[in-house]
Amino acid sequence: MTTVIKGGTVVTADRSYKADVLVENEKIIEIGENLTGDETLDASDAYVIPGGIDPHTHLEMPFMGTTAAETFASGTYAAAAGGTTMLVDFCLPGEDGSLKNAIEAWDRKSKDQICVDISYHMAITGWNETIFDEMKWVVDRGVNTFKHFMAYKGALMVQDDEMFASFKRCAELGAMPLVHAENGDVVAELQQKYLAEGVTGPEGHAYSRPPEVEGEAANRAIMIADAAGVPLYIVHVSCEQAHEAIRRARQKGMRVYGEPLVQHLTLDESEYFDKDWDYAARRVMSPPFRSKLHQDGLWNGLIAGSLQVVATDHCAFSTEQKRFGLNDFTQIPNGTGGLEDRLSVLWSRGVETGRLTPEEFVAVTSTNIAKILNCYPRKGAVAVGADADLVVWDPKASKTIQAATQKSIIDYNVFEGFEVNGLPRYTLSRGEVVWSAGSNVSPKPGRGKFIPRPAFPAPNQALSKWKALTAPRRIDRDPLNIPSGV
Ligand code: URP
Ligand code: ZN
Ligand code: ZN
Ligand code: ZN
Repeated sequence: MTTVIKGGTVVTADRSYKADVLVENEKIIEIGENLTGDETLDASDAYVIPGGIDPHTHLEMPFMGTTAAETFASGTYAAAAGGTTMLVDFCLPGEDGSLKNAIEAWDRKSKDQICVDISYHMAITGWNETIFDEMKWVVDRGVNTFKHFMAYKGALMVQDDEMFASFKRCAELGAMPLVHAENGDVVAELQQKYLAEGVTGPEGHAYSRPPEVEGEAANRAIMIADAAGVPLYIVHVSCEQAHEAIRRARQKGMRVYGEPLVQHLTLDESEYFDKDWDYAARRVMSPPFRSKLHQDGLWNGLIAGSLQVVATDHCAFSTEQKRFGLNDFTQIPNGTGGLEDRLSVLWSRGVETGRLTPEEFVAVTSTNIAKILNCYPRKGAVAVGADADLVVWDPKASKTIQAATQKSIIDYNVFEGFEVNGLPRYTLSRGEVVWSAGSNVSPKPGRGKFIPRPAFPAPNQALSKWKALTAPRRIDRDPLNIPSGV
């Protein structure tokens, strides 16, 4: 059984060209002109792009005394409806602190539910010998990225010595550390200050997490990674201070990657000043949305290449859950959604406005992510032999984003009312149509696969190698040239 995607313009991170794409047994088997197949999907007046990869989601994650309400089933269905065919979710160790048990728990939760493919990042929330040992098991199991929270004091936050130890272990294992960069000590103090002043509403969340706390932590993590001789990936970069740290590091030859979220690119801090408590609380996430100046900087970073990927950090709580913090903003579960709308919002606000080319759009939503996370070209490519994770992207299709019609099970949408142009006509996951506009295709939960991402190969470990070659060394001296001391 073969499927041909016919009459479209293939857009990759490098170039755009007219071609048909032929798919068989989950893979792309041919790209060229006048191809035929058993089944035909019409791509006329549309682009054929690699399926979106969201490198940052938290489905069903226990957090802040509750559990993120978006399930693996609803989240991956929403992803497919929006043109995303793979997501990378964060495994969080439970009470026992075991990384191995965390992966097994995530497997149990996701296995029968996922409609598209997934992969994991592993969170490091403490440090001991078991964690050191289990990190190797995790890498062998196909998880090559470890996340460190520099915020959430008293919960997930790690100290600098723990982070340094873990970064060195990552270097040894050919893995890459990720950081949530915010100074958790300063945030905790600012939270108390604003609460004491009577600022209990969602605006207090934004006030207590100013750009400086993010910039400081980003700089610190970059320097610690450099000392450990390992690349670094900074998640949800929201402000100029953190972006500046990344630019500076990259100019000095450090391998640092930056991930802005589509929310930070399009929503600003005024959201927290809304008179409607629910409206503002639904937008509480860390780091908070920033001013327009920061936003412009993030867009410029995507163009300049100092920021490489766009994610969502989809960590969606219901309005009822947000109300846990009615009298105290520090108790509002942190997180927003975006999985379903990332591509259409980025296309509308990025490509349609001329800020991004279609090729850059493909790079930041798919190809760069696959390369940075080491699953390219199986994912992120329109190439013979790649998984047929493809989207027939209709730049003329439009809609108004509404919670009422979304696939996500959350009762609101932070992009409510956004008019978007650019939507998937078809989404294919390993060759199977899992979304078709205007029809009732709904993918079978459990059809998605876990995609292992092996340790980075030697060329990607160049930084560690350079560090080893230039490391401080003992100087051997001729004993005759050492004063005897008597
Ligand atoms: O507010 C956020 N970002 N919630 C999800 C957890 C995290 O920090 O990534
Ligand atoms: Zn985070
Ligand atoms: Zn500290
Ligand atoms: Zn996150």
